[in-house]
Amino acid sequence: MERLDKFLCDSGAGTRSQVKLLLKAGRVTVDGKVERDNGRKIDPETQQVALDGEILGGRRRIVVMLNKPAGFVTATEDAMDRTVMELLPVSLRAMDVKPVGRLDKATEGLLLFTNDGDLLHRLISPKKEVPKVYYARHEGEATEADIAAFGAGLTLRDGTVCLPARLEPLGPGESLITVCEGKYHQVRRMMASRSMTVTYLERRQEGPLILGSLSRGSCRELTPEEIQALEC
Ligand code: URA
Repeated sequence: MERLDKFLCDSGAGTRSQVKLLLKAGRVTVDGKVERDNGRKIDPETQQVALDGEILGGRRRIVVMLNKPAGFVTATEDAMDRTVMELLPVSLRAMDVKPVGRLDKATEGLLLFTNDGDLLHRLISPKKEVPKVYYARHEGEATEADIAAFGAGLTLRDGTVCLPARLEPLGPGESLITVCEGKYHQVRRMMASRSMTVTYLERRQEGPLILGSLSRGSCRELTPEEIQALEC
């Protein structure tokens, strides 16, 4: 159990004095009922606290999936560009979530965030080799020789050696690519090494997680079952 005002501060709702005013103004609910007593004790594990109707999470562990649009950089702050953090609602940003790995500014699709540092490091660890599936539109056409070269482990133009990967042509100038590592501009560089310049790239799957019908620019929390599958 902890004090409601402390919980609100820890959730990013404001300073102690700001939180007091929010409570006084009737903007905070506990399990759907307006609560004005800042000394009230709550159980963050079982009770739902909301500010202006938006549920706050305190310090509970959270994993979020975003369908990233092009034009946003994967960073927590940036002097030039809009960041993926701007696409998250305030209540999630207040929970101190960070992006898991990165997508290029022009790349769209599945990007995870979490406030669990251990999980974050496990997911981006090269040892984990989480398979990631990308849909690419590209110049040229993937051949049997390209598929074999991906399967054997490509050597990029700068000499970098990649782990074996899967190239599945879907039609002229369209392919699915599955990689188990996250080198800088990896898919674009792999395709370029086979003379297929990528013109569009979207991550559709990361480990057991599928982007599915989540609309571009939207995010959702993972279910406990999805988090468990991710940890396996
Ligand atoms: N590979 C790339 O080239 N870009 C991404 O954003 C992700 C994988």
